[in-house]
Amino acid sequence: MKYPLLLTPLQIDNLTLSNRIVMPPMVTFLSEDDGLVTQAHLEHYERSSGPGLVIVEGTAVLPEGRISRRQLGICSDRHIEGLARLARIIHAGGAIAGIQLHHAGATAFVEKKKYQHFLPILFRLWKQQIMVSGLIRIREAFRNAARRAVEAGFDIIEIHGAHGYLFSQFLSPLKNWRLDRYGGSLENRRRFLLEVFRAISLETADRAVATCRLGIADRNRMGFRLSEGLSTASTFEGEGAKLLDVSFGSGIPNFVQQDGSPYSGRLHLAHEAKMVVGIPVIGGGGIRHPDLAEQALQDSMADLIYVGRGILADPAWAQKTIEGKPESIIPCRNCSFCFHFTDSSKCPARRQRRLKK
Ligand SMILES: Cc1cc2nc3c(=O)[nH]c(=O)nc-3n(C[C@H](O)[C@H](O)[C@H](O)COP(=O)(O)O)c2cc1C
Ligand code: SF4
Repeated sequence: MKYPLLLTPLQIDNLTLSNRIVMPPMVTFLSEDDGLVTQAHLEHYERSSGPGLVIVEGTAVLPEGRISRRQLGICSDRHIEGLARLARIIHAGGAIAGIQLHHAGATAFVEKKKYQHFLPILFRLWKQQIMVSGLIRIREAFRNAARRAVEAGFDIIEIHGAHGYLFSQFLSPLKNWRLDRYGGSLENRRRFLLEVFRAISLETADRAVATCRLGIADRNRMGFRLSEGLSTASTFEGEGAKLLDVSFGSGIPNFVQQDGSPYSGRLHLAHEAKMVVGIPVIGGGGIRHPDLAEQALQDSMADLIYVGRGILADPAWAQKTIEGKPESIIPCRNCSFCFHFTDSSKCPARRQRRLKK
């Protein structure tokens, strides 16, 4: 077998992943204002089959926590039916189905027309205040979203605890200036994330695996520190997490990248976490070729390797890896800005794919 580690199954609780390739959560903005699953979503996930685990994009638990009007939603029972179709399509492709629950916190999308007379900084302060009074509402939104995800048939429910969004804002002392039990010490800053994790764990119980994409360090060394992130990773394990997805917090730290290393700083973060926890760790970032994914597993950088833009560029990435045909993968061009955030039809790899057909 060409990729003996990458193609080895992994057991997580009562779930068997057929291989170690993960399609990580990646927003598509394919919904309308209602956040419902569309035909375009179904086609996108259907053509991306092959990974052992597919984690559906950051999905909004509350309308006011969205990053875009077109973000996929899981805010009401109306969303369950479409999400169930999505979970079925992922299962039919042979993968375990995960979904990422998302709230953008103070960076949520705001209808500009309504508020354009305010200074942007006032928005932020105002929204921060809503957050202060709305913690229970947000926690319950996550709990309800987890219930809906389980009803829809998802196996893994992931909290988005990274990339500068709601929970990164709580974790970072540069952003969290609260004077109550949710601000100040590390214990306090991570309290809300852990409360939400406990709520979704109770809700999912033995019906699904609850996890978190944890941003374990901020770019700014004065922000959420790596030592704090590693301690929080251990806390998750202590709380019963069976899996941890590792990424960065507010901004990508460059201090973990080692000279001459073939791996990204994000993957080094996963490696740091893997050294302190005993549960499987998902890591990745910058993996374009299956040879590098295999090598990363050999080097114990992580237990599962996510391939994001590689799969956007060529949805058959995992399938071609399984078939031992890596030379036929259409590579991601590492554009300085990934067009899949705005208009995927402009992706140069996608154009190449069309030309090949
Ligand atoms: C178009 C796009 C959308 C993304 N959306 C999400 C998201 O919803 N949630 C998330 O945690 N990360 C998101 N990410 C980050 C990816 O999951 C992944 O961590 C990142 O792209 C690095 O991996 P890669 O080099 O393999 O692409 C997104 C990335 C891209 C390119
Ligand atoms: S738009 Fe560029 S960076 Fe994004 S997947 Fe396509 S080739 Fe890769």
